[in-house]
Amino acid sequence: MVSRVIPVDAFDLVIFGSTGDLARRKILPGLFRRFQSGQMPDSARVIGAARGDLTDESFRALAATAIAEFVPKARQDDAVIGQFLEKLSYVTIDASGEGGWPALKARMRDGVVRAFYFSVAPALFGDLAERLHLHGIADSASRIVVEKPFGRDLQSARALNSVLAKHFTEAQIYRIDHYLGKETVQNLMAVRFANILFEPLWKSEYIDHVQITVAETVGVQGRGAYYDKSGAMRDMVQNHMMQLLCLIAMEPPYHFDPNAVRDEKLKVIRALQPVGPQDIVRGQYLKAGGEGGYLDHSGNPASRTESYIALKVQVANWRWQGTPFYLRTGKRLRARASEIAITFKEPPHSIFDDAQGWRENVLVIRLQPDEGMNLMVMIKEPGPGGMRLMQVPLDMSFAEALGDEAEDVPDAYERLIMDVIRGNQTLFMRGDEVEAAWAWTDPIIAAWENRGDRPQGYDPGSSGPEDALMLMHKDGRRWREIKG
Ligand code: BG6
Repeated sequence: MVSRVIPVDAFDLVIFGSTGDLARRKILPGLFRRFQSGQMPDSARVIGAARGDLTDESFRALAATAIAEFVPKARQDDAVIGQFLEKLSYVTIDASGEGGWPALKARMRDGVVRAFYFSVAPALFGDLAERLHLHGIADSASRIVVEKPFGRDLQSARALNSVLAKHFTEAQIYRIDHYLGKETVQNLMAVRFANILFEPLWKSEYIDHVQITVAETVGVQGRGAYYDKSGAMRDMVQNHMMQLLCLIAMEPPYHFDPNAVRDEKLKVIRALQPVGPQDIVRGQYLKAGGEGGYLDHSGNPASRTESYIALKVQVANWRWQGTPFYLRTGKRLRARASEIAITFKEPPHSIFDDAQGWRENVLVIRLQPDEGMNLMVMIKEPGPGGMRLMQVPLDMSFAEALGDEAEDVPDAYERLIMDVIRGNQTLFMRGDEVEAAWAWTDPIIAAWENRGDRPQGYDPGSSGPEDALMLMHKDGRRWREIKG
C-alpha cells in the first residue's frame, strides 16, 4: 500500500493528567501509533504533567505499559517503542498551585506548535488556562484540547466556555467528541456529499424515518460513580448521538471547512423540537443470575439514572418536516452495534399486481463493528411463475472493499490529536454547538426529574426495555434488530 501519511509540524504536546485513564488507554497509545506510521516528526516532544511524583524514566515506563496493554500485539515493535519513549518526559505539576510551572516552561521550545491536552476534571480547566498564561507558557498560537463531559447542563457548559474564553480564543479551543474522529462517522459526510445518488432523495419527501442506534454490551462497572450522575442522555445523546444526527440531517456546507461544517450542524441542533414524555423511554439494566445489575454497578441502590434511552426526535425545518429520527443507546444490550438506518418511502404507484414481497428501501450505515454500508433493494424473485418481488442487500464491508488500506486506519484519538497539531477544527465541537445541545437536553432531563420518573428495567443481553418497542409500534414502525 502506498503510504498517504503526511507528517505534521514539529510540536510540544503537554498532557495534563498524563497518568490518568484516558492518557493510558487512548492518548499515549494513539501517539505511539502515529509515531509508528511516520506522521510524527522526529522533533516532536510529549510532556506528561500530573500531580504524581514521577521521573522521566517512570513516566516512560508507564507509557510502555500502556502501549503493551492497548496497542495490538502485532503492532508492538520494541525498537520503535524505544524511539517513541525517547520523546517523552515528565513534569510534576500542581494544577491549582504554583509548583512545577517554571519547570514546564523550561521544557517548552520556541518555533514549534504548542498544544495542551486537559485530560483532567473540568473543575481544573480554569486553573490550568490561567497558569499557562501567567507563566508565559501559552501564546496566541497555542492550542488546548478538552474532553467531555463538557458541562452537565447549559449553565455549567456556559461557565466552562467563559472560563476558557478568558485566556483562549475559540480558534484555539479543541473540544473533543471522539465520535467525530471515527473513520466511519466522517464517512457519513463523504457518502452524503461526494455522491449525487443520495442527496436528491435526502428529505422527508422520500425518507420515512431514520433510526440511530448505539448499542453497547458493557455495563457501567468501574465508572459507576461518574455514570450515575450522568446517565445515557448526558453521556451519549447530548454529544455522540447528537453529532450523528447532525451529520445525517444537516444541509450541505459550502466547503469542508471547520466553520462551514459547524454552522450547518448548529442549525440542526437549533431546529430540534422539544421532546415530550410520550416520546421517551428510559431503561436500567437489571440483575441477571449471579451478575450485578445497574444498581450494584453504580453503587447507588436508589438510583433513577438511565443506562438506556430511546427517543423520537423531530427536526423542524423544510427538509425534515414529518420525518422522525428515532435514537436509542444503552449499556448491557444484546450486541455491540452502532448503525444509522435510513428507511425510504414506498414508490408512489406500484405497477406490479403482486406487490406482496415489497419492502422499503433501507440504507444502513454500519459504524461499528464491521464498518460498511448496506442498501436494501427490490429485485425480481428468480424463476418462472410471474413477477414476484424480493428484497436483497447490496452489502459492502469497508474492510473487504479497502483491503490492506482499512488496516492502518487511525483510531479516533490518533486522528483528532493530529488534527490539533495541524490546526484543523472541523472535527471538534464549537462552544455554541455544545451550548445549543445542552439547551435542547436540559428541559427533557428536568421534566423527568420533576416528575420523579423511574427508568424501566430491562434484562442484560436484551434489546432494551419493552416500552421502547411501543415507541415505534405506535407509529406503525419497528426497530431494527440489534446484531453484532
Ligand atoms: C464515551 C462514553 O464517551 O463513549 C461511554 O462516556 C461509552 O459511556 C463510549 O461507552 C462509547 O464509545 P465507543 O467508541 O466505544 O463507541
